[in-house]
Amino acid sequence: MISPLLRVVGLTHNFGGLRALEQVTFSVPEGAVFGLIGPNGAGKTTLFNCVTGVFPPSRGDIWLAEVPLTGLPPHAVAALGISRTSQNLRPWRDMTVLENVLVGCHLLGSCGLLGSALRLPACRREERRLRELALQCLERVHLADHAHDLVGELPLGGQRMVELTRALAANPRLLMLDEPAAGLHTRETQDLGDLIASLREQGLTVFLIEHDMSLVMSVCDRVAVLDHGELIAEGTPREVQADRRVLEAYLGGAAE
Ligand SMILES: Nc1ncnc2c1ncn2[C@@H]1O[C@H](COP(=O)(O)OP(=O)(O)O)[C@@H](O)[C@H]1O
Ligand SMILES: [Mg+2]
Repeated sequence: MISPLLRVVGLTHNFGGLRALEQVTFSVPEGAVFGLIGPNGAGKTTLFNCVTGVFPPSRGDIWLAEVPLTGLPPHAVAALGISRTSQNLRPWRDMTVLENVLVGCHLLGSCGLLGSALRLPACRREERRLRELALQCLERVHLADHAHDLVGELPLGGQRMVELTRALAANPRLLMLDEPAAGLHTRETQDLGDLIASLREQGLTVFLIEHDMSLVMSVCDRVAVLDHGELIAEGTPREVQADRRVLEAYLGGAAE
């Protein structure tokens, strides 16, 4: 049995009177690609926001390995080793690819953005080290050739890769991606799938919200399904695909 890296127990979240998550319990095994699917409004992004400290959950507990995350602010969660991309956030389009990734690397440095801007000597050394790191990350995702391109000049697929690389640059234990394939062409989606598979080969644990079922089915080891804030299924992609409650959730009861 592989030990869980992320554990979510009884997670409940309300927005005023709206119950966005209701008693959600599951674990993400270390080293796995774990998918989270469900119809629009099911609570997937809210779950990511609870895990990463954007919203303190109304009830329930979250652990990264043995470390409790519940109630920690986002920067503390990030420092413990969780990086994410957001569904709507875009990379800074008028900065270069390398500069975008450097922003992610700054989480690892001790000088911070201000020290670097003031060009303190220790910070200049650190800056060089972080640039090296950023370039290594870009090599990892085959973007090194585009390091000095403006992000706004890349196609959408490339921009998504930059966002992902920025998250990767913080050297996380857990990488969380919120709909990374939204709006991508088939070819770009395949490249993204290959990249996720290669990150898994390198030992990274990936937690993926995605609507593209072919991507989910091809890269995920396990999949959890949310519907109206409740976890209605969890298992291998094949198990989940054959689950009656899942079919009903997607077809609005027409599967009955
Ligand atoms: N910041 C918020 N304030 C109020 N309601 C929200 C907020 N974020 C999400 N919701 C509501 O919570 C429910 C779940 O939303 P969300 O987590 O974004 O779903 P998904 O990502 O699965 O599409 C929806 O009904 C949505 O309208
Ligand atoms: Mg969402």
